[in-house]
Amino acid sequence: MVSEGITVLGSTGSIGENTLNVLARHPDRYHVVALSAHANVTRLAEQCRQHHARYAVISDVTKTGELQSALDRLACAAEVLGGNEALSAVVRMDETEVVMAAIVGAAGLEPTLHAVQSGKRLLLANKESMVIAGELFRKAAAEHAATIIPVDSEHNALFQVLPQNFDDGLESAGVERLILTASGGPFLHRDRESLRNITPAEACNHPNWDMGRKISVDSATLMNKGLEVIEARWLFNARPDQIDVIIHPQSIVHSMVAYRDGSVLAQLGMPDMRTPIAYALAWPERIEAGVKRLNLTDIHKLEFYQPDLDSFPGLALAFRVLETGGNAPVIFNAANEIAVEAFLQERIGFLQIPSVVSAALDACEAGRIDNLEEVLEYDRLARTATSRIIHMKKVSKN
Ligand SMILES: NC(=O)c1ccc[n+]([C@@H]2O[C@H](COP(=O)([O-])OP(=O)(O)OC[C@H]3O[C@@H](n4cnc5c(N)ncnc54)[C@H](OP(=O)(O)O)[C@@H]3O)[C@@H](O)[C@H]2O)c1
Repeated sequence: MVSEGITVLGSTGSIGENTLNVLARHPDRYHVVALSAHANVTRLAEQCRQHHARYAVISDVTKTGELQSALDRLACAAEVLGGNEALSAVVRMDETEVVMAAIVGAAGLEPTLHAVQSGKRLLLANKESMVIAGELFRKAAAEHAATIIPVDSEHNALFQVLPQNFDDGLESAGVERLILTASGGPFLHRDRESLRNITPAEACNHPNWDMGRKISVDSATLMNKGLEVIEARWLFNARPDQIDVIIHPQSIVHSMVAYRDGSVLAQLGMPDMRTPIAYALAWPERIEAGVKRLNLTDIHKLEFYQPDLDSFPGLALAFRVLETGGNAPVIFNAANEIAVEAFLQERIGFLQIPSVVSAALDACEAGRIDNLEEVLEYDRLARTATSRIIHMKKVSKN
């Protein structure tokens, strides 16, 4: 078997660590070209030594010296590269055949898009990239014959149960609806009033998944499901009215596709990201992922509920954004990133996250998106507007 060269962007995060865990089970099948972190020098150096990475990329350029020293201490020969341009450089290298995009937030956009533009196989965890630049991704994938395989467990599930070819639209492939499942997060069945004084630690304590802090908060607000609805629109060329969300607290059914003949196909599995990661890595084959096997008689029951849009208005906001189109998804995502950061720093409350995002959507001028520069500019403007909104709310609270 010919070994494939993999670059993992965001290797020190939750998806990055899980990816390396799967790769280590298949040393004959894959080799690591480059690993990247933003600031976590110590973990990046350890990973480079353990996985024999050729390049160690630190996007915070001020930390290259520190990274070199950490690698020297471990007698690791990985070459140090620094800055955002280095992320795109390792993605474009011929040695990189497959890119795992696992940076969190819009910071992952440029290298992720460059992976598609250089015709690489893209394993997409960084959903924010697809949310803010979905149309650019679709065009680039068609133009450069790049394959995009979703890693998000819901989209990976849909990818597994959709027909192979739906290029002419879901309808012509016999698909009626995409049904995204959502665990409901740590505050399922809680009324709005009881969410007023939620702390960052409570919001990050997800009942089923062990994830990074940003996506954990997004899961608690259901903003994550909103981002996933927009992600699904672009990944699967779906109309907004073809996408449903249902709450499924056990996180065993990862999503479903409803077909015209009344069949509903679902993908089930334990809530462990190594399954979708392994599927994305080996597609169309299947490889061992180290995951505990699902035994439905241990689980006993699988429940399904309608989402509560009153306590969790972020989901309804996402559907509104999808209908609006243009730069609205960019504003939605940027405002959410700034609001989550402010919540984690205890500058705003949990319930203020969706209201800040909604206020940012109202405050920013609508526009169309034709290229990457426009995405970056609208992202910048939305971040500035959101910071101002948060600042003003803080002033009025005091
Ligand atoms: N975790 C999950 O189970 C899960 C499931 C589905 C989808 N996703 C998606 O996968 C992505 C990663 O999530 P995660 O939970 O793995 O996040 P995470 O644990 O917070 O890790 C984020 C990674 O991105 C790096 N990073 C952070 N800021 C950066 C910046 N400005 N520039 C470059 N790199 C930066 C981090 O480096 P440092 O460690 O140095 O900060 C780290 O390697 C997100 O888009 C998330 O929505 C995650």
